Amino acid sequence: MKRMVIFASLLIIAVIVAVELCHAEYGDIVLGKKMESMQKAGVKPVMFPHWFHRIRFKCKVCHEDIFILQRGANDINMNAIMNGEFCGKCHNGTIAWEPLYCDRCHSWGGPVPPYATAPTTTPATTK
Ligand code: HEC
Ligand code: HEC
Ligand code: HEC
Repeated sequence: MKRMVIFASLLIIAVIVAVELCHAEYGDIVLGKKMESMQKAGVKPVMFPHWFHRIRFKCKVCHEDIFILQRGANDINMNAIMNGEFCGKCHNGTIAWEPLYCDRCHSWGGPVPPYATAPTTTPATTK
């Protein structure tokens, strides 16, 4: 009986991990580290359509020159985007539309899913 319970728990964990991995690679990513300033500016959290981008660009275009490959690990702000960093590397009016249409990116209506690591701690991957 005890064995069955352990086996069942392992199975559940495996399924959760698999779902998480799929989500990480293919799903949309909600960016809401800067919730406070976004609320002040009256914009919603950002919904980044990862799949939409990954079918158009190779992973290495973005990872890890532009974005560290971990949700929440990048310290993104609008000044940087307007100055051609992060999303602004492409959303600059040349490769893709300019970052003037706030709602196209700030389009997530739901709650921000929790981050794997506390957003305030610096992950090991950063310098
Ligand atoms: C247009 C840029 C872009 C491309 C192309 C791209 N990604 Fe990403 N990726 C991102 C951004 C932005 C994030 C979120 C980073 C953050 O939250 O700070 C991310 C996050 C991730 C994450 C972490 C997700 C999580 O939940 O922690 C993984 C894994 C990932 N990407 C894998 C890939 C793979 C594999 C490819 C190629 C098949 C790819 N990415 C292509 C921009 C891109
Ligand atoms: C490597 C280049 C690149 C980067 C980096 C990039 N994008 Fe894009 N993005 C594009 C291109 C190209 C399009 C398509 C533009 C078009 O259809 O005119 C696009 C389209 C979009 C769309 C519209 C998707 C749709 O369904 O029409 C959204 C939303 C978006 N990007 C958000 C972001 C956000 C948020 C970031 C930063 C986290 C980002 N992008 C970073 C190239 C990029
Ligand atoms: C190309 C996509 C994109 C567009 C367009 C865009 N943003 Fe953002 N914005 C982001 C991303 C990504 C973040 C980082 C979110 C996070 O990590 O919490 C962000 C963060 C913010 C923040 C919080 C950080 C800071 O800089 O204070 C504010 C406020 C903000 N955006 C306002 C706006 C406004 C207002 C517009 C329209 C003029 C706009 N954004 C257009 C992608 C975009």
